[in-house]
Amino acid sequence: MSKKVAVLPGDGIGPDIMAQAQRVLEAVDKDKIFEVTPAAIGGAAFEKFESHFPEETKKICEAADAILFGSVGGPIDQAHLPKWKNCETNSILALRKTFQLNVNLRPVKLYPALTAISPLKDSVIGNGTDILIIRELVGDIYFGEHKQYQENNKRHAFDSAEYDEDQIAIAAHQAFQAAKHRRGKVTSVDKANVMATSKLWREIVSEVGKQYPDVTLEHMLVDNCAMQLILNPGQFDVMVTANLFGDILSDAASAIPGSLGLMPSASLNASGFGLYEPSGGSAPDIAGKNCANPIGQILSLAMMLRYSFEMHDAASAIENAVRQALEAGYRTADILTEGARKIGTKEMTDAIISFIES
Ligand code: IPM
Ligand code: MN
Repeated sequence: MSKKVAVLPGDGIGPDIMAQAQRVLEAVDKDKIFEVTPAAIGGAAFEKFESHFPEETKKICEAADAILFGSVGGPIDQAHLPKWKNCETNSILALRKTFQLNVNLRPVKLYPALTAISPLKDSVIGNGTDILIIRELVGDIYFGEHKQYQENNKRHAFDSAEYDEDQIAIAAHQAFQAAKHRRGKVTSVDKANVMATSKLWREIVSEVGKQYPDVTLEHMLVDNCAMQLILNPGQFDVMVTANLFGDILSDAASAIPGSLGLMPSASLNASGFGLYEPSGGSAPDIAGKNCANPIGQILSLAMMLRYSFEMHDAASAIENAVRQALEAGYRTADILTEGARKIGTKEMTDAIISFIES
């Protein structure tokens, strides 16, 4: 039976790097089992359908077994939209809500070949960095009420944050399950000294943790966690946290390997359906110039093969090929190291494909 993938390239460098990920998919799809259907999203969709997430795209996604997503953020007129609604919120947040994508997995891995481009000193990253950040994705302040209003001649604004125990438990289970296959440690990050949602978060994560006696659980306040990520990232194995904290901490952590262009992610719902996207943005300034780093998109494809299709060998083949290409000195502009030759998006993919096939 064929495996159906909805491919949503989006805006900016999205189409550039998505085209390369599709080449990699073809290279591992020896039996031609994948059926790929492209669909419009973001600014590119708005230009054609006057919607950032058109009905047609929704139907294609609903009919698919997984979604491979590029990036969004297009040059469009947003004058008619409320201030907190824009291309990104209308497309990616709508997808998360429509498919109830409960958790976002963001692995942060430092490649030995690239330690020179990490902003952190060798003495700090010396014992390696390999963190799996699990961000809750359908609750919190992201999906609360947002408003601006006028009162007593002053402008006010209001955002509400809410969690229910099931949302927290799903993220917690995901974290403990992942830790069992890694180094056996979960760091749950919250602001339980101040926020009610965080107090509930801590309570539920602790309860779920009792079901996983082999995994060590620690709680950390988010301000301290931000500091610890810079002082000693090697201490973290699996990190689990709420939507907004996860958004911020995952960007901070992604600076450690040296480039956002390297970072993949997977957003999964409770029944295992997934959307896979690189963490980097649409970078419209370098779009169409064959210079964006395709690795984040290619590793997102590997995560898709692993999580949606249980094709662990193909996923590992891609991940190993990326590591080999980096070890062999292939570098796009964002990860250039001394003495290395700069190559383009397509040439980096050529190198990765050649290692998959070797
Ligand atoms: C991300 C992005 C989104 C988020 C934006 C574009 C709404 O920053 O995927 O991390 O905040 O979740
Ligand atoms: Mn973000």
